[in-house]
Amino acid sequence: MGYISVAIDGPSGAGKSTVARAAAAQLGYVYVDTGAMYRAIGLAVCRKGISGDDTAGIVSVLPEVELAIRYEDGAQHILLCGEDVSEAIRTPEIAKYASKVSAVPEVRQFLLDTQRDMAKNGNILMDGRDIGTVILPDAPVKIFLTASAEARAQRRYLELCEKGQQVTLDEVLRDIRQRDHQDMTRAVAPLRQAEDAVLLDTSALTLEQSIQAVLRIIREKTEENR
Ligand code: DC
Repeated sequence: MGYISVAIDGPSGAGKSTVARAAAAQLGYVYVDTGAMYRAIGLAVCRKGISGDDTAGIVSVLPEVELAIRYEDGAQHILLCGEDVSEAIRTPEIAKYASKVSAVPEVRQFLLDTQRDMAKNGNILMDGRDIGTVILPDAPVKIFLTASAEARAQRRYLELCEKGQQVTLDEVLRDIRQRDHQDMTRAVAPLRQAEDAVLLDTSALTLEQSIQAVLRIIREKTEENR
């Protein structure tokens, strides 16, 4: 029997990972957060003191990057050369590095097979930017989950404040716009909605409504494909 892959793509801060994680848990699917992989590479580059604009430098770090994904109580943990970096990758600085390294073709190639292989081993719900367009173009369910830049900035701002990080709403909005621009205009695998993806705008939805909407789309699509 074939496994079911659900591809969820969209810009940063649309609530993708929270919604995807909850939906996967309800369905009993493995949740794969591909952004964490780009962040881990960004962290490796940052720790080496290499600039995010130094493409050759970024590529030179790849042979030393050993990524592993582990699940503890259903939560994804990402290991960089054996070290659990799940927390360390969640800073605005590493988000910027992640965006930079994700524009480098060698980095995307480096992660492509790992991500495809994960879909061969079970039912998965994978979230990212190019899952429906590049990584799993044949996924039976594709969702493009988005929200206005303002709604996303507001949510991310509250999240960062809760973590005790010193930021202003303006800074967060500016970062989001800059990252949207970088993610959508890069030459390789830019962020875009796959033609066969269902568009879900969560600007006016609560978290619970977003989760229910995602579950409804998955149910409809998997029944259609049966
Ligand atoms: O979803 P996130 O914020 O954790 O992603 C971090 C960065 O990685 C973001 O700038 C976009 C990039 N990314 C990507 O290019 N392709 C993916 N499949 C996932 C993330």
